[in-house]
Amino acid sequence: MNFRTLLADQVDGVGVITLNRPEALNALNSALIDDLKSVLDHFEYAASVGCILITGGSKAFAAGADVKEMAELCYPNTYLENYLGRLDQVAQRRKPIIAAVAGHALGGGFELALMCDFIIAADNARFGLPEVKLGVIPGAGGTQRLARLAGRAKAMEMTLTGRTMDAAEAERCGIVARVVPLEELHSVGLETARRIAAQSRTAVMMIKECIGRVDEGSLAEGLRFERRIFHSVFATPDQKEGMRAFVEKRPAQFR
Ligand code: HXC
Repeated sequence: MNFRTLLADQVDGVGVITLNRPEALNALNSALIDDLKSVLDHFEYAASVGCILITGGSKAFAAGADVKEMAELCYPNTYLENYLGRLDQVAQRRKPIIAAVAGHALGGGFELALMCDFIIAADNARFGLPEVKLGVIPGAGGTQRLARLAGRAKAMEMTLTGRTMDAAEAERCGIVARVVPLEELHSVGLETARRIAAQSRTAVMMIKECIGRVDEGSLAEGLRFERRIFHSVFATPDQKEGMRAFVEKRPAQFR
């Protein structure tokens, strides 16, 4: 399988996806989201795959949705095209997905990791939802999933200030399953996925489905609401200023 923005490989029963746009710290652009959908479709239906592992580079899992792609987008096109809506399909998969995160997992990158069934973090991982600093809001489940995992106070503080947290704090507040030294991330991630892939396929998928029910009902409504608001933020001057300032490498001046 050849993709422009990621590497895909199968190791024993594990489908390994490595995000691969190092020049942009694996920022999620439309091409990457299309590639991710194709490779997940493949692994989801491959009888030989029992678990999926998504990882990035040692400096970044993914530093967010691609701000350069988003900077000039406008509402209502974001709404009409359901911009970045296809990323949601990561959370709809039936086979278990582990995120092995090193370095920056920010904005859409953190939201992608939160869509996976659990996160294993390297000790250099940093998590955050810095969208507010760009004049926008998280748009791929961040407000909903972070509040459910870490609680309302932590979600409010993180999203309203845009600050990042390190791996130890993320483990303390229940965002990551475990933290390992950076040099062991790949082997621990692969070994964990291998162990899951070796279990009964039906039992594994049923467990995932059951745990998913814990917050499914109101999560779906919250995600829809968040997506609508995310699209409408592209009608604001602050989104233009925040994202242009990033592209032009200067501080944003919000009115
Ligand atoms: C596009 C990005 C990017 C992003 C980094 N790059 N993050 N490009 N979108 N999200 C690019 C930089 O422009 C630069 O390209 C190259 O990657 C290396 O980044 P540097 O900034 O030079 O690296 P460094 O100084 O180490 O700083 C790392 C960083 C910083 C702290 C992670 O890059 C950063 O703050 N990035 C933006 C993080 C962010 O705001 N994420 C949220 C995005 S909004 P050039 O060409 O200049 O070398 C979002 C909304 C989600 O995710 C909505 C729903 C999905």
